[in-house]
Amino acid sequence: MKERQQTPNNIVKGNMEKDLEERTKDKIPRWFLLFSFLVVLLALYILLFETGGWKNNIFDSRSLFWGYIPKPKSKEEVKKSVVEAKMDTMALGKDQYQAMCSACHQQNGLGMTGQYPPLANSEYVVGNKARLGAILLNGLSGELKINGSSYNGIMPGWKTALTDQKLAAIMTYIRNSWGNHADKVDEAEIKELREKYGKKEGSWTVDELSHLGE
Ligand code: HEC
Repeated sequence: MKERQQTPNNIVKGNMEKDLEERTKDKIPRWFLLFSFLVVLLALYILLFETGGWKNNIFDSRSLFWGYIPKPKSKEEVKKSVVEAKMDTMALGKDQYQAMCSACHQQNGLGMTGQYPPLANSEYVVGNKARLGAILLNGLSGELKINGSSYNGIMPGWKTALTDQKLAAIMTYIRNSWGNHADKVDEAEIKELREKYGKKEGSWTVDELSHLGE
């Protein structure tokens, strides 16, 4: 020990080591260490006690952030989105009607007397949804009387050409256009009808339709 102290080299080296030690010690300030410690404590606290065991039916964001919750949508906004969803179905229905049906039944839904029956003011359109769905899925042929005029044409079926969504939209559209007023048709209803009638070969006759659902 004595010898070491006497060598000037050692004294210098010792000082340098001390210096280095001191400097690295100062690199992370105490206040920062304390702060980090508090942050970790807070994080642990939230993880352990504020998350309701991560069960999504228990976790309640209102207990965090001083009870901040995003403002719920106003009634008007909700109403608007419902109307918009309805509009979308009608818009899709109109689009599909014009592409698939209007060549025969015309844009105004009046058809052509003696050739193509009208959809406006037709009991087949605003009446029983299952019957209308059956007609659209498989088609219709044979003698038919609507609003005093007789028809004997062939209406093709649409089960392979149109999806449930499109058929539902078309049905909703024709049931609510040209003065028709009837409730809308859901995709799920078409799905059910497709399961029921989809395997039928060929188109319906009016006589068959009158026995539908019996
Ligand atoms: C190629 C022409 C043609 C096209 C395209 C056509 N139909 Fe028809 N549709 C007819 C004919 C013809 C009848 C009558 C069949 C009969 O005389 O038995 C008919 C009958 C109907 C009927 C039952 C009678 C009535 O007037 O209410 C409905 C409903 C109907 N079509 C809806 C549609 C819809 C919806 C579309 C489009 C997806 C469509 N049709 C496309 C020719 C067509």
